Amino acid sequence: MDWGMKNRLAGIITPASGRCVMLAIDHGYFQGPTTGLEQPGETVKPLLPYADSLMLTRGVLRNVIDANNRIPIVLRVSGGTSILKDDLSNEERTVSVEDALRLNVSAMAMSIFVGSENEKQTLKSFSDLCDDGQKYGIPVLAVTAVGKEMARDARYLGLATRIAAELGAAVVKTYFCDGFEKVVAGCPAPVVIAGGKKIPERDALKLAYSAVGAGAVGVDMGRNIFQSKWPVEMIQCVRSIVHDGKTDAQAWDMLNELTNEAVQSGS
Ligand code: R5P
Repeated sequence: MDWGMKNRLAGIITPASGRCVMLAIDHGYFQGPTTGLEQPGETVKPLLPYADSLMLTRGVLRNVIDANNRIPIVLRVSGGTSILKDDLSNEERTVSVEDALRLNVSAMAMSIFVGSENEKQTLKSFSDLCDDGQKYGIPVLAVTAVGKEMARDARYLGLATRIAAELGAAVVKTYFCDGFEKVVAGCPAPVVIAGGKKIPERDALKLAYSAVGAGAVGVDMGRNIFQSKWPVEMIQCVRSIVHDGKTDAQAWDMLNELTNEAVQSGS
């Protein structure tokens, strides 16, 4: 692997642990002002010390993230749809590689929509992005299975993640499911999980623990952190699972300790 590619990837997957805590705040690119991200700069400020990398769009990056901040950036470079449309798969590339380089990003991220009407369009765009990534030494992260209509089972996720890796993904983001070990085993690139819709903190910790136990290198988590009543504590607990080998039960105890027993009484 070329030095630049390797160096950038080291900002995403920590070499010492081989693990990754990516904080996702790119939801606005099709959802608009998502709950918890109305003021994304304020939301992420206290969370950044606990994240290995930050996934977002160039608009939020340029407008609200301090350029003196050295957090590695995973830049979403696809879009073109909104929640007002039924079919979210009609995406295209929205950022040039020159702009990604100007922003000094550590990785570029694009969704693929395997099985959708726009499957070919998104897979071709993704392959072209991987070509650009190879040319300039920028890893590409594939985002799979976003959208309500996707069956998020091991068969589908195994197919989507494998295709992403075959086309050139350096890291593949997907969802946890029953039989997740098979998904990871069938994907030659490192896998991270999205958190999905907000669920109780105890369940989100179990999700992170189960995913890592099944072979994921970590999380690319958003709503289950920034929509929590205890976002700063929550990211620390997720981090303890991903990097420090804590179980979900230990992380839950940690959350209770950090929040002074407020979790037990409040949820
Ligand atoms: C979805 O399109 C975005 O890429 C999000 O970054 C992704 O869904 C992860 O965030 P969450 O943990 O909130 O699902």
